[in-house]
Parts: sequence; C-alpha cells; structure tokens
Amino acid sequence: MRLVVRGEIRVPGDKSISHRALIFSALAVGPSRIANILESADVQATARALRMMGVPIPPLGRMVTVSGIGAAAMHSPPQAVDCGNSGTTTRLLSGMLAGLDGRSARLEGDESLSARPMRRVAAPLRAMGARVEFEGAEGHEGLPMRVHGHALTSLSWDNAHASAQVKGAVLLAGLVSGVAVHVREPSRSRDHTERMLRARGVELDTTETTVTLHAAQRLQSLDVEVPADPSSATFFAALAALADESELRLTHVCLNPTRTGAFDVLQRMGVPLRFADTQMSGGETIGTVIASAGDLCATRIGGDEIPRCIDELPMIACLATRAIGDTIIADAHELRVKESDRIAAVVNNLRTLGADVEEFPDGMRITGSNTPLRGHVITQGDHRLAMAFGILAALPGNEITIDDPDCVAVSFPTFWHDLARLAQTHEQATMRTFTVIAIDGPAASGKSSTAQWVAEQLGVRHVDSGAFYRAVTYLALQSLGAPETWSEQAVVSVCSRIDQRFTDRSVLPLIDGAVADDVLRDAAVTRHVSRVAQMSLIRHWVNAQVRRAATMSSVVVDGRDIGTAVFPNASLKVFLIADPWERARRRLVQRLGRLPVDHEIALETEALVARDALDATQSVPARDAITIDTTALTQEEQVDRIVALARAAQH
Ligand code: S3P
Repeated sequence: MRLVVRGEIRVPGDKSISHRALIFSALAVGPSRIANILESADVQATARALRMMGVPIPPLGRMVTVSGIGAAAMHSPPQAVDCGNSGTTTRLLSGMLAGLDGRSARLEGDESLSARPMRRVAAPLRAMGARVEFEGAEGHEGLPMRVHGHALTSLSWDNAHASAQVKGAVLLAGLVSGVAVHVREPSRSRDHTERMLRARGVELDTTETTVTLHAAQRLQSLDVEVPADPSSATFFAALAALADESELRLTHVCLNPTRTGAFDVLQRMGVPLRFADTQMSGGETIGTVIASAGDLCATRIGGDEIPRCIDELPMIACLATRAIGDTIIADAHELRVKESDRIAAVVNNLRTLGADVEEFPDGMRITGSNTPLRGHVITQGDHRLAMAFGILAALPGNEITIDDPDCVAVSFPTFWHDLARLAQTHEQATMRTFTVIAIDGPAASGKSSTAQWVAEQLGVRHVDSGAFYRAVTYLALQSLGAPETWSEQAVVSVCSRIDQRFTDRSVLPLIDGAVADDVLRDAAVTRHVSRVAQMSLIRHWVNAQVRRAATMSSVVVDGRDIGTAVFPNASLKVFLIADPWERARRRLVQRLGRLPVDHEIALETEALVARDALDATQSVPARDAITIDTTALTQEEQVDRIVALARAAQH
C-alpha cells in the first residue's frame, strides 16, 4: 500500500503566542481582538485563570475580543486556579501574579504538570520580593503553589536554562510592578514575549541572549492574528516526508527563527521543504511551508539548536527511525522535564515498537531501518508523544496503537481529523477529486475575468493559466535575447524558475521565489505571449502546473484546451463565444479605458479573426462543453449562469 499526502492545511494557532496574546491583552486597558487563537485545553486554562481574576474573556473562537482591565483592576482568583497540563500557563501567570501587589493565587495542575519543576520560576520571583510557597509534599518544588504578589524590586537574572517561560515570567513581573528587569540565558529561547511587548509599545533592549525591560512601561491594547503553530506543522511536514508521494502546503506558519529549528533539522535529514509567501504579521514572520517526500538520512542535533526545536524532538526521533544511519540527539536534558520525561518515553516506546534506540542522559541515538514498527504506545498523557507516534501509525506497514489519543486536545484538538483527511492510500487519493470547472473560448472571449469572478462566487481558487504563459514569456524576454531566436528548448529552460503561489482566491506564478504580478502585464510580454503559448513543450509545462494546482483544492481554470486536453474529466466545462465585433469592442474598452469608435473596432476585429484562425486547432469546444454565447450578455449575467451550472453539477 502506498501513502499519498496531498493538499493544504492551516494548522491551529501557535500555543506560545496564544497564551501571551491573552495575558497581554488582559494587562492592557481596552479591547484587543485576537484572531485564530488556539482553542486548546492549555490555552483554555490561561483564559479561565484570567476570567477568575476579573478579565472579561468570551468563549474562545476564531475572533476573540479581550476587554483588558489592566493589572490594577485584577483581583485574586476566588478559588485555586487549575492550570491543567499547561506549563506555560503556570509559569507566565506566576510572573504576572508576583507583580500584583496585595493579591495572591493558588495554582494547581494535573499529575504531569504537578511533577514539573517550578523552582526555576519561583527563584527569580522570590529574588524580586514575591512570596512563592510550594504547598505539596515536603521538598516538592512544584504545584500546588501559591504566589503572593508584592511591590517588586528590579532584578538582573541569569537563567540556568534557555527557557522562554521563565524569561516571560520575569518580564511579566517587572512589567506589572513597573520595575526594570534584565534576563540572561545560556542560549536564545523563543522570543514571542519580546516581540509582542514591543508591538504593544513597551521598550526593551535585546541581544542574542539577553533582554532588558525598562522601568515603568505601559502596555497598549493591540489587535493580533495568531499564526499557525510551527510545532504542530512539524507533524504534518514529517508525514509528507515519510509518504510515498506527497506535496503538502502548510500555510500561515509562524517562521520566527527561534522556532524553526525543526525545519532546519528536517532539511538536513533530506526532507525537501520549500518556503513561500513569507510576510510579516503582528511582529512575526509567517509563510507557507511546502513539504514533500524525500530519502531520509540521519543527522546530529545538539547545542544551541535544541531550544529552537525542543518541542519537535519527539517527532524528529520518530522520523529518524526511517532515516539511513544513526541520528543523535544531544544536549536535550530539558526534554526530561516536559509534559513527560520525553527522553525516556520516546526511547521506551520506540523500543517497544521494535526500533533500534539507545538512551543517553541528555538525548538518544536512533538507528533508522525499514522494519515495520508494531506495538502499543504509552503516551503518559503527553500530547506530543501521541501525535509523533500517530504519524508513524499512519504509515502503511506499521501497526501501532496509542493508549490516549484524546490527549492531543492540549495543543492540537483536530489532529486526528486532519491526519485522516491528509494521509490517504493511493487508492483513496486517486478516487478523491476536487471540483474542476473549466472555462474555454477563443481570444478575448472574457475567459479569464469571468473565471476569476466565478471562482470568487463559488469560494474556490482561480487558476490563471495565462499568467503562467506570461511568466514564461517574461523570463524568456529577460534572459534569452531577441524573441525571433528563441527555441522551444531554450524557453522551457526558464520554467524551473517559476513556482506556484496560492492565495486565498487564486493560483498565480511566483518568479524566482517572488511575487511578480505586475511584470506579467508588461507590453512586451503581451506582444510575445501568444508565440510562447504555441510551443508544445511550454503548453505541456503549463498544463502540468494547472493540474498540480487542482490536486490541492477545487478550482476554476480558464485557458485554451482546458476542457479537452487538460481536464477531460472536469465537473463542468463551459465554452464562451461572442461574435468577433463584440469581442473586439470589449478588448478595446479594457485596453483603452474608453468606448472605442467603429473603425478602431473594425481593425481589432480583423486582428482577432486572424488570431482565431491561428488558434483554430486549440479552440475547439470539448464534446461535453456547454457553449454560452455572451454577445448579448453582461459579464454579471455570464457569471450567474456559470455559477448556476456549477451548483447544478455538484448535485
Ligand atoms: C514555551 C517555552 C518552552 C516550550 C513550551 C512553550 C513558551 O518551554 O517547550 O512548549 O511558550 O514559552 P521552556 O520555557 O520550558 O523552554
């Protein structure tokens, strides 16, 4: 059986950013809107705690408006705060609580969280003057814990571990108390706190491994959009890497360099990853990660890279079971104090499944092979273990069961559903078809603008095949000299510089990795595109692009021979015609931006008829195409008809 992974996914919002968005929005005075917050158990724990302190936070959803009340108006939670499984909730809220003079809270958690070390956060907060008491068994420096807020003093703190939670707690304590703090770390931990504080108007000085918050800073309210979580994305990038056939687009992923260690590791292991559509959003870089299958080889992961991929190490270890050679993970002691002892838990489970692994105090060795993995995984309620082994379980040949699949609710509640959607056997993948609506017609029949509009109405993507011909023409003009001398072979050689760019509503070409929509309309491109579009090698290449786009989502495609050669099985084929005079008139209106006079239309009509003759072999309607004569129709009427036909074809 072959595993095929194709399509697109926006994994849920980033966990680290979601917690911080809630806390900072609560501490600012006024409304902050948060889009795409992660709706998971961990983030719910933070929301619940803040509500208990008087912050109005509606139920989490795609758009949440937090009406921030500021630190001064927060009160002590009337009961103990249940932090569930969430270390980030516990540590960040401890920092905030420490600075709330005269208020206190008891923090509790589940069994796993109660076993995690809290001295690392208690120590700096105590050094600032807060009272932090461990209320469990004698000598146990973890939850349950009570934090009494105080007017704190300024602090310069050397963090023993690279920990964004501890760094965040100290920064929050300083911010709430209005005192300066300075934190130094052995290596750089994720910097979402710093980015978000700056975006909210707080002054910070940062270096690679230090951060200084100035005294008496004010936090502003801010609307934020939470990007997709790169840790969650890694599971699906690994799935694509392990598939027999794949191309998976992970969109809107947070590509903050303190978080992308796993993508670097995957690339070193031979996973073909491409990045597209990168842009800034709310102080963070986001983009699309395109993952496909590769021949995997072992690697070594250690040193400063560890904090950049700490949460992804269970998945990387599972991936390494299928890589040629010995993968070594070192310097990862911190893995022992996560939601489970992730070194012991990963090693023991991999061993149970039949993999060749060795445990080290600070990591492990995994030797890759093709042996099927079989057995029952004990997750200890650790969400990342459930998902990492869930990916291995999806591979044909492996027979893996997982004791507690529901624990994924901590960070990725839709994980199993998304996995079932994306991991398909070859048979399922070939049976699965997205809807393709093919719109064809002679030159200037209005195919492209109509197709764009129809796509918009139907909420699917428009693939503008003409834009791909234009992209090839543009590059040929740039690099091949005089157009009369172009050979098909030379022109086809520029195609490798063109990739696809998926926007919400269209699929367009990317040239050398950049958006190039403007140059596609250059006059020189318009003059030469028809010649390029006659070249059979180029037609073949463009057709492959268009077909590839249609394996990712439903599409409306326009172009010559779309309904015949490219998508003979399209769900709906429309062939637009209009008499040459009318087509000439429409083209001139578009080109001149005014109503043309009759002799201009006559000249253009002549040119169009000549072009029709040249295109005659390409512009034949498919036998099952529906021909619409648009001569007497407005564009709106054409679009309405096609949309109605498309809806009927779906029933
Ligand atoms: C996190 C920091 C990391 C990470 C955790 C989330 C954060 O923990 O493992 O999943 O949001 O600050 P440490 O601070 O313990 O390194």
